[in-house]
Amino acid sequence: MKHAVAQIRWFHRIDLGDGVVTPGEDDTPEKLKTLHLPEDLRGNTVLDIGAWDGFFSFEAERRGAARVLATDDFCWGGEGWGTKAGFDLAHRALGSRVESAEMGVLDLSPETVGVFDLVLFLGVLYHMRHPLLALERVASVTRRQLILETGVDMTWFGKPLIAFYPGAEAAGDPTNWCGPNPAAVVAMLKLVGFRTVRVVDRLAVLRAIARSVRQTLAARELFLISRYVFHAWRE
Ligand SMILES: C[S@@+](CC[C@H](N)C(=O)[O-])C[C@H]1O[C@@H](n2cnc3c(N)ncnc32)[C@H](O)[C@@H]1O
Repeated sequence: MKHAVAQIRWFHRIDLGDGVVTPGEDDTPEKLKTLHLPEDLRGNTVLDIGAWDGFFSFEAERRGAARVLATDDFCWGGEGWGTKAGFDLAHRALGSRVESAEMGVLDLSPETVGVFDLVLFLGVLYHMRHPLLALERVASVTRRQLILETGVDMTWFGKPLIAFYPGAEAAGDPTNWCGPNPAAVVAMLKLVGFRTVRVVDRLAVLRAIARSVRQTLAARELFLISRYVFHAWRE
């Protein structure tokens, strides 16, 4: 198992048991704390959009979800930084029943995947060239609640604004297309049909400020992209 794990470039740190934790570059257990994912998901159906190695899908299953569907295309299709190998290995190692479908965000609809009680859209919005259209698709498959985690820009402005990154100006990654500010995320979520929207985990705001200061000092230019978590409900 350790050999197989070492062959893969992991994004998530997944505890596979027997002392094996996948060496992901993302501190996924730390990110989990910021999400305020319900402890008890028994009886719920969960959709994890842009699941990559599947940490959050497996976590939803561990919390009792009746059905979990993980979707992705960019990384799983091999165009991105990774592959589906990590998801598949973790799936086997954990004896998971999480389902998976290789499909893009804009292909999600009630006809293609159905509708889910809880939808996770984590670390994907800023990769979207058409963020409002993407959120329309996400809303269309959400029955009750959405948990959205995203990089945000221009956090200090109350007016809804979306930064556009035509090149690699956001963290050196050309797949980062947009940086909405929190007001824009809230406004877009309401536009696509979520009645209640709130930013969760105020500590995340403090961490974001510290991170912006660190990144600004490192890059020697003003860098205001930080991460926020939003909970949105259809009712
Ligand atoms: C930063 S990773 C986030 C993974 C996971 N959801 C998490 O929060 O840890 C971004 C994910 O978005 C997916 N994705 C979907 N559409 C994409 C696109 N057009 N460009 C880049 N990434 C995209 C990637 O394949 C990848 O799994």
